[in-house]
Amino acid sequence: MEIIFATHNPNKTKEIKSQLGSNFSVKSLSEIGFTDEIQETETTLIGNAFLKVRAIYKATGKNCFADDTGLEVEVLDGAPGVYSARYAGEACNPEDNIDKLLNALKEKSNRKAQFRTVVALILDGKEYSFEGVCKGEILEQRRGKEGFGYDPIFKPNGYDRSFAQMTIEEKTEISHRGLAVKKLVEFLLN
Ligand code: IMP
Repeated sequence: MEIIFATHNPNKTKEIKSQLGSNFSVKSLSEIGFTDEIQETETTLIGNAFLKVRAIYKATGKNCFADDTGLEVEVLDGAPGVYSARYAGEACNPEDNIDKLLNALKEKSNRKAQFRTVVALILDGKEYSFEGVCKGEILEQRRGKEGFGYDPIFKPNGYDRSFAQMTIEEKTEISHRGLAVKKLVEFLLN
């Protein structure tokens, strides 16, 4: 089955292709030549996920899914949450976001956090959603070179390595997006 993944992010596309395997032909927005930027203007993860997937469905008429992820830090009342990509400002990069978060947690003993992903799917015109959560903690400094975004400072519970010290396969097995996509795959295969 061909399905469009509403993202321009090559790291996410790589993760999801490795998970969906040969059952699906996943095409990212870059791969279908969709270059428009979709502004994420909603205030919730589910709102943004549906905003993206509806825009792509309207443009292509094809089955598609979109994800939206937030890093929710307990002591910061769930921030940066839906604003994780722009935590350090509109023109910031992942390194700026990490620096800002490490700074906000300086001398804080509660470092509990979770990644939450919502996947929105439009299949034959009908809408569905799936959620995945990965609980862990924010490290005091960066560890590892793999992955993207906040991976170097997020250590999932039960592991002594950050996401950036794991292979894609290891991360996908336990990650927020991996769990949400697993639910998506089970749904699509049934
Ligand atoms: P998005 O809206 O789903 O693209 O994600 C929002 C922000 O969370 C971006 O800054 C990403 O870098 C970050 N993010 C999303 N997924 C992950 C992940 O698996 N690891 C680390 N950071 C992530």
